[in-house]
Amino acid sequence: MSLQSEINRRRTFAIISHPDAGKTTLTEKLLLFGGAIHVAGAVKSNKIKKTATSDWMEIEKQRGISVATSVMGFEYKDYKINILDTPGHQDFAEDTYRTLTAVDSVIIVLDAAKGVETQTRKLMNVCRMRNTPIMIFVNKLDREGRDPFDIMDELEAELGINVRPLSWPISMGETFKGVYNFYENNMQLYTPNKQTISQSVEIDVNSSDLEAKIGDKNAAQLREDMELIHGVYEDFDKELYLDGLLAPVFFGSALNNFGVKELLDCFIEVAPSPRPTQAEERLVKPNEPDFTGFVFKIHANMDPNHRSCIAFVKVCSGKFERNVNYKHIRHGKMMRFSSPTAFMAQKKETVDEAFAGDIVGLPDTGNFKIGDTLAAGEELHFKGLPSFSPEMFMYLENADPMKAKQLEKGVNQLMDEGVAQLFVNQFNNRKIIGTVGQLQFEVIQYRLLHEYNAQCRWEPVSLYKACWIESDDYEELENFKKRKVQYMAKDKEGRDVFLADSAYVLQMAQSDFKSIKFHFTSEF
Ligand code: G4P
Repeated sequence: MSLQSEINRRRTFAIISHPDAGKTTLTEKLLLFGGAIHVAGAVKSNKIKKTATSDWMEIEKQRGISVATSVMGFEYKDYKINILDTPGHQDFAEDTYRTLTAVDSVIIVLDAAKGVETQTRKLMNVCRMRNTPIMIFVNKLDREGRDPFDIMDELEAELGINVRPLSWPISMGETFKGVYNFYENNMQLYTPNKQTISQSVEIDVNSSDLEAKIGDKNAAQLREDMELIHGVYEDFDKELYLDGLLAPVFFGSALNNFGVKELLDCFIEVAPSPRPTQAEERLVKPNEPDFTGFVFKIHANMDPNHRSCIAFVKVCSGKFERNVNYKHIRHGKMMRFSSPTAFMAQKKETVDEAFAGDIVGLPDTGNFKIGDTLAAGEELHFKGLPSFSPEMFMYLENADPMKAKQLEKGVNQLMDEGVAQLFVNQFNNRKIIGTVGQLQFEVIQYRLLHEYNAQCRWEPVSLYKACWIESDDYEELENFKKRKVQYMAKDKEGRDVFLADSAYVLQMAQSDFKSIKFHFTSEF
C-alpha cells in the first residue's frame, strides 16, 4: 500500500469526557466493533477515578498497568483506528491536554442528564486552541435525561461551537424507543441489550409506518422535532467540521451498545486523516517521505529497580522503521530502536514500521522529554507542547541535605516526564512546583524517595495562577518585572512567568500594565 493510502485510512483521536459520562464504556464498545476485544469489561484503565484521592499508590499502580491501554489501535472496515486514552482522574488533566496535541480529532461524551460539565469545558478550550474537529456523543439515553434541544443550546453556549444533530432521540429513559439517524436517513430501534447491535429500519417518516413502529405520541413528537431541527440547524457541512467550527452530535447509550456503530461509521467517513504538524521551521505534511515525530507522553515504569520509561511518539510524517537511525534533535545524536512497540487492541507488540498518524512506544532510559522531536535527517523542532497554568503551588524543600544532587536530578526528570511544572522564583531562588491536583505532590514525593533516593518537603505558598507574559513594549515589561520582582519566576524553558497571588492582583496588573499580555498557557 502506498504511503498516501496508509495515511488516508488512519484516524487518530481521543475520547474526552467529564468522569462518569461513559468514556470507558464507549471506548470498549468501539473496540468490540473493531474485534479488538471480545468481551465487555476489558477496558479498565479509567476505573482509576473511582479510587479515593488519598489512595494514589493504587492509582499509580493502575496507571502502570494501563500502559497497554494508553493507545488502542484496531482495524475497522479498512480503516486503522488509533484511540488515545486520556486519564479519567482530573488530577492528571495535564496528561490529557498533552494527549490532545497528538490527535487529529476528538469525540466528546456527555451524560444526557448532566449536559456540559467542568472537565469537558476545560478540555474543549484546549481543542479550540488547535481547531481540532469535534464530534459529540450524548450518552445514557436509556435513562431520563435533559431535553435534547436544551442540550444542543447548552453545547453551543458553553462550548462556543455550532452544533448539528446527526441523530435524534425518540423519547428517553423507560420509554426510550431509539434514534432517527439524519446521516444515514434511517431509524434505529432500541432493544435494551448490552452486547448486540441495534436494529436499523428504513422508514418514511411521513407514512403511518412511523406510528406503527414507535406509537402515535412519539411519531408526532419526532415529526415536530425534525421540522424544528431542519428549520434551526444548517445542513451538516463537513468542511466546517474539519475546521473545528461545527460539531455533529449523536445520541445513544454506550452501555447498551446503542448508537455506537452509527457514530463510528460516520466518524470514519468524515473525521480527518492525519493532519499537517507545525514545526518551528515549517509545516510538516504527513505524506512527506521522511519520518518525523514528537514525544507527547512519557510513561514511567513503576518498578523502582528499573528506571525505564516508555516515550510515546506520534508519527507526523513518512514511515517509522525499526532499527533505522533517526536523529534526536535536542541531543543532536542518532538513535535507533530495536524494540519499538505498537499498541494494537490491548497488547503491546514490537513493530517493524509505523505511518503518520500512528503512535509508537519507545523504551527509554532518560533520553527523552516531552516535546522532543525525532527526525530522519532534517533539523526540525515541532512546536513545544503547551504548558497550562497549574492550579496548585508548593515550595519544594530538600529534606536531606546530603542528597541535593539526587533531588535535583529527580525533580528535573519528573518535570521532563510532565508530572508537574517547576518554576524558579527569581527573587529568592526557591523552587516552586505547580500541579493540577493535590495528588501530584504525593506522587512526586514518593517517586523522589523510591526512584532517586531523595527526600523532599512541601511548604505552602499561596498563589493563584502562573502567567506567561509578553509585550512589544520592552521598557514596560522591564518595569513590570522590577515592580513584581518577588513574584517573577522562570519556567523550565527559561521563560518569564508572573506568579499572581490572587485574582485581584492579576486584575490590577492587567489594568496597570496595558501593553503586557498575560497568558495562562505557554503557547501563544
Ligand atoms: P467514564 O469512563 O467516562 O468515567 O465513565 P464509564 O464508562 O466508566 O461509565 C460510568 C458509569 O456509567 C458506569 O457505571 C457505566 O456502566 C455507566 N454507563 C455508561 N454508559 C451508560 C449508558 O449508556 N447508560 C447507563 N444507564 N449507564 C451507562 P458504574 O456503575 O459506575 O460502573 P460499572 O460498575 O457499571 O462498571
